[in-house]
Amino acid sequence: LEKLEEVIDLNQYSKIGILTDELIGKHFIPIIKKGLKREVSEIIIQSGEKEKNIETFQYILEKLFKEQFDRKSLLINLGGGVIGDLGGFVAGCFMRGISFLQVPTTLLSQVDASIGDKVGINFVGIKNGIGLFNPPVGVIIDVHTLSTLPRREFLSGFSEIIKHGIIADKKYFEFVTSKKPAEFSKKELVSIIKRSCEIKASIVEADEKETGFRKTLNFGHTIGHAIEELKLETNALLHHGEAVAIGMVAESKLAELLGMFNKHDLEKIKKGIIRAGLPTSISNISTEKMMDKMLSDKKNRNGKILWSLPEKIGSAKFNIEASEQLIINAIKQILL
Ligand SMILES: NC(=O)c1ccc[n+]([C@@H]2O[C@H](COP(=O)([O-])OP(=O)(O)OC[C@H]3O[C@@H](n4cnc5c(N)ncnc54)[C@H](O)[C@@H]3O)[C@@H](O)[C@H]2O)c1
Ligand SMILES: [Zn+2]
Repeated sequence: LEKLEEVIDLNQYSKIGILTDELIGKHFIPIIKKGLKREVSEIIIQSGEKEKNIETFQYILEKLFKEQFDRKSLLINLGGGVIGDLGGFVAGCFMRGISFLQVPTTLLSQVDASIGDKVGINFVGIKNGIGLFNPPVGVIIDVHTLSTLPRREFLSGFSEIIKHGIIADKKYFEFVTSKKPAEFSKKELVSIIKRSCEIKASIVEADEKETGFRKTLNFGHTIGHAIEELKLETNALLHHGEAVAIGMVAESKLAELLGMFNKHDLEKIKKGIIRAGLPTSISNISTEKMMDKMLSDKKNRNGKILWSLPEKIGSAKFNIEASEQLIINAIKQILL
């Protein structure tokens, strides 16, 4: 982080702002500032998903106008996916668009949220209800930022790493599940983050507007999102990556029930998820509620769920249909 100026020519910008939250800023703003030869404005908001709202969006825009930012300014988004999504949306709207840099500080945002150009906020109760496809001028990842990240947040990001292996790269899957996440050296972690970025970037490049192949990234997320939302209603909060881990187990089972995926690979996925310290089952949820949630998802029109499922470890297919009975049987696999 102290070498930002070596990576990007900051002289081309009239003004520079750093958007961050109260938990992150205190650790990393001093480090960034140490390496910069010029003034930066700080915009600090509260931490948490609830900040991805229209009021905070407006607050940041007002701040940019007050501080006389212009079209040649740069916004640096220093934080997790919340900061990246919110800041990228602000940058896309302020004076019809200014440059922005993603500096993700959670594992999830490093391997997932900062890649793929999707930015936005939640609106009228709809997650990511408004937003843009808006590419940043760059994504700068400093693995040292992970040292202050709580363990549960770290593992939640690791779930997406395992997903990348399952849908796109068998060798990578075997490597990332060969030890516990905390046992990887810093050097290994850098190579893991790099490979995950490559995988997500290559999938996104092949299908920027998510009409086809990009859907494979949704593996684990159809059931995962339903679990996440049902747990949200009960206040027994589950992190996104934890819900996705359980979703990956159920959806791999569904692939097996459909006859497109073998039992041996299903067991390997379960073992990998357990080794990573992530959950593979859930209690106090009914199959009926899960079905209702999935059918009301905005991605699933006409009462039909289209699945993204692995055909073997390292390769996935999308737009797969399954009968209600098979879906119920797959869900039973993860209910305690
Ligand atoms: N745009 C996309 O393609 C995309 C993809 C996946 C997820 N997302 C979005 O990302 C968001 C989730 O992102 P997230 O998991 O990074 O959560 P987050 O941004 O809420 O960060 C999680 C928590 O960790 C704290 N934190 C961040 N970095 C830290 C650090 N280095 N040390 C200590 N604490 C730190 C934050 O303050 C926050 O409390 C969701 O809103 C989701 O919709 C977007
Ligand atoms: Zn996800």
